[in-house]
Formats: sequence, C-alpha cells, structure tokens
Amino acid sequence: MASLLDGKVALVTGASSGIGEATALALARNGAKLAIAARRKDRLEALAAKIGGACVIQADVAVEEQARAMVRRAHEALGRIDILVNNAGVMLLGPIDGADTNEWRRMFDINVLGLMIATHAALPIMKARGSGHVVNISSVAGRFTSAVGAAYSATKFAVEAFSEGLRKQESKNGIRVTAIEPGAVVTELQLHTTHAATRQMIDDWIAGMKGPLQGEDIAAAIVYAVTQPAHVNVNQILIRPSEQEN
Ligand SMILES: NC(=O)c1ccc[n+]([C@@H]2O[C@H](COP(=O)([O-])OP(=O)(O)OC[C@H]3O[C@@H](n4cnc5c(N)ncnc54)[C@H](OP(=O)(O)O)[C@@H]3O)[C@@H](O)[C@H]2O)c1
Repeated sequence: MASLLDGKVALVTGASSGIGEATALALARNGAKLAIAARRKDRLEALAAKIGGACVIQADVAVEEQARAMVRRAHEALGRIDILVNNAGVMLLGPIDGADTNEWRRMFDINVLGLMIATHAALPIMKARGSGHVVNISSVAGRFTSAVGAAYSATKFAVEAFSEGLRKQESKNGIRVTAIEPGAVVTELQLHTTHAATRQMIDDWIAGMKGPLQGEDIAAAIVYAVTQPAHVNVNQILIRPSEQEN
C-alpha cells in the first residue's frame, strides 16, 4: 500500500533520543527515507537498525562545518532532501544572576545557529527542486517565558523569528516552514540542567504530571504538518499536555 511520504527524504537532527528519535521512526513508518544526525553514533546506529536502514551522520550542529557536512552527506547519500527537521537542542535552565554564561553560548550555538546553518545549507538543495519543508522544533518557551527559562526562551524566540522570516522569504518558492512548539515532553532534555534547585523543580513538575507528552505525540504533529497537500502551509503547532497551565 502507498504511504504518504513514499519517495521523500527527511533529514532529522538530534535523532539519537527523545522527540528526534520518535520523529525519525514516524516519518520512516510513513514511507520517507531517513538521514539521522546527532553526536552519539551508537544511538543512531541502533535507530537505523530499528527503522530498517537509514543514513547515519555523526555531527555536532554547533560546529558550522559539521552542520554543513551533515546536510551535504544526507544529500549525497539519498539524492534529495525534502524535509529538514531541525530538532537538535539543549535546555539549560536557571536564574540569570550567577548563570554560567558558557551555557547561554552553548544553547545559542546549538538551538539557534545550528538550526540556521543547517537551513542555510539545505535551502539551495530544496529550491533546486522547487519544493521543501523546514520543520523547526521550537517550544512553548518560544511563545512564553518563565523566570528560570530566560536564556532558553531567548533561543526559542529566535527560532520563531527565523522560522517566520524564512516562511515569508521562501513561501513563493515552494518552501514550507513549520515551527513546532511542545510543552513538557518526557525525554532526556531536562537532565542537562546544571542548576540544582532548578533541576529539582523541573523533575518534580514533570513527575507530578499524570500525562506529560511523549516524543510520539510530537512526532504525530510533525507527520501531520509534512503530509498536508502542497497548498497547505502549517506554520505553527503549539502542543501542551492537557494538564499543563503555562
Ligand atoms: N522535552 C521537552 O519537554 C521539550 C519541550 C519543548 C521543546 N523541546 C525541544 O525538542 C528538541 C528535542 O529535545 P528532546 O526533548 O527530544 O531532548 P533530548 O532527548 O535531550 O534530545 C536532544 C537531541 O539533540 C541532540 N543534540 C544535542 N546537542 C547537539 C549538538 N551539539 N549537535 C547535534 N545534536 C545535538 C542530542 O543528541 P546527541 O547528544 O547524541 O548529540 C539529542 O538527540 C529540542 O530542540 C528541545 O529544545 C523539548
């Protein structure tokens, strides 16, 4: 039976865990051929085996040349890139006062510049075919800011701005752009926060939820966005667990 994404190629960054892994699996289930990228190659290889074959690319998107090489490699290996899912990201929460500003730099390098460079590298490939879809994983923090999330939110507000500018610039060229804005999803994301009190607060918040989102819930929204007919451009999808207030 024909699948919705038969013949399409998707490159998913940050595919070694969480939302990226679930998204790669969901896109593959819908017929897409996959290039999967992240730093942890063993995880990517395990995922490729689960998918039944994928182009595995070890890349640190914070390093411009690696982000560009990732796109090049996906294109060379699979012959086209129809869908770019810019998902790689880190969330290092905590107060502004006393923050380790290297963490701010790291978040901007990965969440913002990594996504922008990957898009910059993929855009000519998509435009040469006259179509493409860039899916940027933003966050509910790309619309609303919490006290401990100022720097993280600043990166996700940047993702929203870049996505909207990209949409405006490329809408006449067959390029569609979707910003996905998840609320709390159970992944490895919160494990990287180094500020102890903040980390405890997030752990308690997620543990206290009866039904936080799973990676698969976000993957389903991405599949929805990328399987609409060509004249439909799904620009933003905000998804919270039903019980999440902010
Ligand atoms: N979980 C949530 O509640 C939530 C809510 C809103 C938005 N988001 C966003 O969703 C995206 C995915 O996060 P997740 O929740 O699935 O967390 P996750 O399980 O920690 O996944 C993050 C992914 O990003 C990759 N990554 C991190 N730094 C990288 C780098 N320098 N170069 C390449 N890949 C890198 C990681 O792979 P390696 O470590 O192997 O490189 C991993 O595959 C992020 O953009 C995050 O901001 C998550």
